[in-house]
Amino acid sequence: MPSTRWEADSSDASPQGAGFNPADAAPDVRFVSGAATAGEDAADVTLRPTTLDDYLGQSRVKENLRVLITAALQRSEPLDHVLLSGPPGLGKTTLATVIAHELGAGIKQTSGPAIERAGDLAAILSNLEPGDVLFIDEIHRLSRAVEEVLYSAMEDFTLDIVIGKGPAARSLTLDIAHFTLIGATTRTALLSNPLRDRFGVNFRLDYYSPAELSDIIIRSATILGVTIDGDGAAEIGSRSRGTPRLANRLLKRVRDYVQVNVGPAAPVTEALAREALGFFEVDELGLDWMDIKILRTLAETFAGRPVGLTTLASATGEEADSLEDVYEPYLLQNGLIVRTPKGRQATARAYDHLGLPHPECGGAQQDSLFEE
Ligand SMILES: Nc1ncnc2c1ncn2[C@@H]1O[C@H](COP(=O)(O)OP(=O)(O)O)[C@@H](O)[C@H]1O
Ligand SMILES: [Mg+2]
Repeated sequence: MPSTRWEADSSDASPQGAGFNPADAAPDVRFVSGAATAGEDAADVTLRPTTLDDYLGQSRVKENLRVLITAALQRSEPLDHVLLSGPPGLGKTTLATVIAHELGAGIKQTSGPAIERAGDLAAILSNLEPGDVLFIDEIHRLSRAVEEVLYSAMEDFTLDIVIGKGPAARSLTLDIAHFTLIGATTRTALLSNPLRDRFGVNFRLDYYSPAELSDIIIRSATILGVTIDGDGAAEIGSRSRGTPRLANRLLKRVRDYVQVNVGPAAPVTEALAREALGFFEVDELGLDWMDIKILRTLAETFAGRPVGLTTLASATGEEADSLEDVYEPYLLQNGLIVRTPKGRQATARAYDHLGLPHPECGGAQQDSLFEE
């Protein structure tokens, strides 16, 4: 089959492909960000699991999927449309390819920002084979006009097309193949209700436990030919912010460090992993300098008072959007900051982590915050 434009546009496979807008890119190439750096995912295809058995962690989602996939296969019907949500790097794209593999179906990949016009999506949809999986990454970024094409496609497997303009315009309904749409999003809140309602299945991926990350690291190390012991893997896992993409990235950096400083075939031990990650400035909680800057701004500059998002953004020199999407989820999840109606505040845990004394007179709210 000739390669079509929209296939080349898949945001994961070729971040610099046609239609790439620099503003769509991850805000930076932070070492510990869950977002893929340019070209990283393409280089990581070997690490990407292809079957549900190889997809580690997310056991609840996997158990559900096994039942749904088996049932669909038994009935020889396509799987219901699936929405996958969760922060970057947790395995949404991977899971979409795993689902297609388990269904024995073909998969076409594209992304919200890559589909510019309704006609582009209509072309993609009318080229699908029965049973195909269509994966739309960043589905919350589809434009309204494009999104509306999806409604009838998802519900009735038809396309409503208007031909011509003005009084001569005619509308036409085309049948398309019964397919499965898999949508991925980091921001479910930005999805319109009509679109969200058309997904039969909605899975939210959670951050991985250190033990699950440790398993992922051991699997990746085997594929990369790196010798690592359980404690070494656990040390990297515990600094990977619950994110498999990051676990793989830190494993590679530790491998580089050990190769250069100890020797090419030297096994990665806990002590070496700790030394290497210290060298790359990833601390015990997996925080990097930007996270520390945010915590210091809250704890020192604002002395523990609640800080609004825009104020925090200008004080740290980071965009409000990326503070909210990239940095805050992990800091919130780890109880290092809290979000109150008045703004963000550093918690007692953050003061402890920074080695700072807790603020003396924070008022009532501060007191209640620090009672644990
Ligand atoms: N459950 C998992 N088990 C093993 N490796 C995983 C898993 N989830 C993700 N990965 C690894 O992490 C990388 C990033 O996953 P990806 O699916 O691209 O994340 P997302 O699409 O959510 O940003 C993949 O290349 C894969 O190697
Ligand atoms: Mg992805």
